[in-house]
Parts: sequence; C-alpha cells; structure tokens
Amino acid sequence: MDANTDATRTDATRQRVADSALDLIFRDARTYYGWLPKPVGEADLRALYEIAKLPPTSSNICPQRIVFVVSPEAKEQLRPCLKPGNVDKTMAAPVTAVLGIDTAFYEHLETLAPHAVDRRETYIADPDLAWRAAFRNATLQGAYLLLAARALGLDCGPMSGFLHDAVDETFFPGGRVKSNFLVNIGYGDPASLRPRAARFDFDDVCRIL
Ligand SMILES: Cc1cc2nc3c(=O)[nH]c(=O)nc-3n(C[C@H](O)[C@H](O)[C@H](O)COP(=O)(O)O)c2cc1C
Repeated sequence: MDANTDATRTDATRQRVADSALDLIFRDARTYYGWLPKPVGEADLRALYEIAKLPPTSSNICPQRIVFVVSPEAKEQLRPCLKPGNVDKTMAAPVTAVLGIDTAFYEHLETLAPHAVDRRETYIADPDLAWRAAFRNATLQGAYLLLAARALGLDCGPMSGFLHDAVDETFFPGGRVKSNFLVNIGYGDPASLRPRAARFDFDDVCRIL
C-alpha cells in the first residue's frame, strides 16, 4: 500500500523533462484504433499501475478500480458490451482496461486519508457529493493512466462507447463499482491513425486575469 518514495525535490532534480519525453507523451502520442501483434504482459501492467497510482486525487481518495481484460475468454465477455464501432479495435488490442469508480471509496479513508477520516460520514450523508468526488477523481486517474502508459512507451485508445450496465454486471458485480471508461492498451499500428484533429489555441479558451 505504501507510495514508493518520499523523495524531496531539489533544484538538481526539478528539471524539465527532455523534449523527446514530451514528444512521446504528448506531441507524437495519438489515439490508436489498431494494434501491432506485440503482447503486453502482467509485468508491464504492474509497472504501469505503479506510475499511474501516484498523481493526486482529492484527500487521496483513489476511487479508481481497474480490470485489465487480457484473455480471449474475458475479451469475449466484453464483446457484447461494446458499441459496434468499438468491437474490432477492442478485440485486437492486447489489453483493454475497464476503468471503474468505487462509489464507496470513503470506506478506505482510514488507510488512504487518515487526516480526512471524518469525511466518511459526510459522504454517506450526501451521496451526490460522494458521487461527484468519486467521478471527478476516478476520471483524473483515468487520464493519469493514459499518460503513464504513454510514458512507458505504450499506446492507448480510450473509449466511452459501451453499455455501462452490461460492463458493470460483467466486470464489477455487486453494484458498488460503476464503469467510467475503457482504454485499449498496446503498441499502436500507425496504419490505424486518423489525421490529428485541431485543438483550440491558447487565446481561444484561456484567459489570464
Ligand atoms: C473518454 C474518451 C472516450 C472516447 N470514446 C471513444 C469511443 O468510444 N470510440 C472511439 O473510436 N474513440 C473514442 N475516443 C477517442 C477520441 O476521439 C480521441 O482520443 C480524440 O479524438 C483525440 O485523438 P488523438 O489522440 O489521435 O489526437 C475517446 C476518447 C476519450 C478520451
């Protein structure tokens, strides 16, 4: 359960990452719809989680739960849950991460957030507040997972085109964990790329006050 370092930043360690790292994680990274026939093993998934678990969530609530769908049998369980346009790419991906949200994340406050343990009753009394905290922070953790995968040289294809009830029933039985989105993970086939769509420029969407 321990977070793995208590490193203190110094001017020597607080350096901008190399441009090649920014290329890998942001500039050249794309959303992939097809996959090279190169496997992603359990060690890769464990290494991915070790990185992705570290960025922040509010009060460190860590509400994300993940099922890594790898085996052909598990892939077949996922197939009927997918919107038609997402079936082929998902069946071909070495791994599909089913990202879930623990709606009762507050049951772990004693371990994860001893400083905020009294928030448990607040969350129980206000399910809407609890859901918003869970959804916000689990979604952040989904983004961290995407960027961590890219940083480790993997490619991703996130998807929201699936039947939530079916995924929940199949991969998160019991009702406590709700699906958020899916992420295909592997080594992307460049032939599957679509042209990069535009992004807003700074002045279109940002203001400095
Ligand atoms: C949360 C989320 C859900 C998405 N859902 C789907 C989907 O269901 N099917 C699909 O083909 N692409 C899906 N996408 C892919 C996006 O369209 C793609 O990431 C975006 O256009 C940026 O593409 P780029 O990374 O190649 O620039 C989704 C992306 C995200 C982040």
